[in-house]
Amino acid sequence: MPLLSRAYPLARAALFSMDAERAHELTLAALKKTHACRVARPLIQASRPPSGTACTLMGLSLPNAVGLAAGLDKNGAYIDALGALGFGFIEVGTVTPRPQPGNPKPRLFRLPAARSLINRMGFNNHGLDAFLDNVQASRWRREGGVLGLNIGKNADTPIERAIDDYLLCLDGVYPHADYVTLNISSPNTSQLRSLQGHDALDALLAAIQARRQLLADRHGRKPPLVVKIAPDLQAEEIDAVAELVPAHGIDGIIATNTTLSRTAVQGLAHASEPGGLSGPPVHELSLDVIRRLRTRLGSETAIIGVGGIEQATQAIEKIQAGANAVQLYTGLIYRGPVLVAECVQALAALSATTA
Ligand code: FNR
Repeated sequence: MPLLSRAYPLARAALFSMDAERAHELTLAALKKTHACRVARPLIQASRPPSGTACTLMGLSLPNAVGLAAGLDKNGAYIDALGALGFGFIEVGTVTPRPQPGNPKPRLFRLPAARSLINRMGFNNHGLDAFLDNVQASRWRREGGVLGLNIGKNADTPIERAIDDYLLCLDGVYPHADYVTLNISSPNTSQLRSLQGHDALDALLAAIQARRQLLADRHGRKPPLVVKIAPDLQAEEIDAVAELVPAHGIDGIIATNTTLSRTAVQGLAHASEPGGLSGPPVHELSLDVIRRLRTRLGSETAIIGVGGIEQATQAIEKIQAGANAVQLYTGLIYRGPVLVAECVQALAALSATTA
């Protein structure tokens, strides 16, 4: 086990004494510095995975089915350092066409008793051009790593013009992505979640699919497209997603983003902060969405399960509910990179028993 995994519980105590967003920035900066130093790099580098972890997802070959969820590296500035932690794929963003500051701070809160976070970051990011510079400067893809690029809309783009922002981002990220995620489920951009409604989603996916045909001709390749949805959708809204995604030739669904529900954290400090709740309270919600999607989708549409994985058992439950791969975010903050290795091993053992 690399030193970072063993030392994380100690480091966590210091990090948790700081403002959450500051701790996040410091951790990523330290990770990047360590990775850049050849002598220090083994301190963070994941051990070689056990055999039998490789899999395919939407035609992509992955060394394992455990990915990094979007939002941890919004600008794609830490791809190589994060890649060293042993993920089978990495998703960065959400990027918007133009840079934007996001919501006023503080906007990220820990709820340690529930091992959860509430965030209302609001797509703070340096914009598409800076994002693409970072992505192109990273070595991860050149060395065979799988990279998902997650796109969204600017806060000041009217919702009626949202499609323009997604098309602008798609044009930019297309040549540099192994897959592209349309994030239509952040609770922190006004009205964004309305894009999940039947007619709005139909229009968005039709426009995206038309542009994708042009881009496929221009670039001679067709990376998979996925949509990322909320855990708070009603049953009929999930059914609309399950109908429209394959109908428009979209390859997969990421289920899910953060929740607006506070049922599981009532009475805890920060529980009434506005924003999206992540961590264990999302696990069951996202499982319900995955199960419903899987019963309505053929096996050709991929599902990436995310939300509340803090132990390997929850990663297994996501797969058993119908997901083809999983992603982690809040569990990493509370458990550290050891969680990646635990999930990779557990999923390899699961596929050995079901093979
Ligand atoms: C997120 N998440 C997120 N998702 C996304 O598609 N784009 C984004 O920019 C962000 N930003 C973001 C910031 C912060 C601080 C958090 C905690 C989360 C959502 C994330 O990718 C994931 O879907 C949820 O957090 C649920 O998974 P976990 O965290 O419970 O494992």
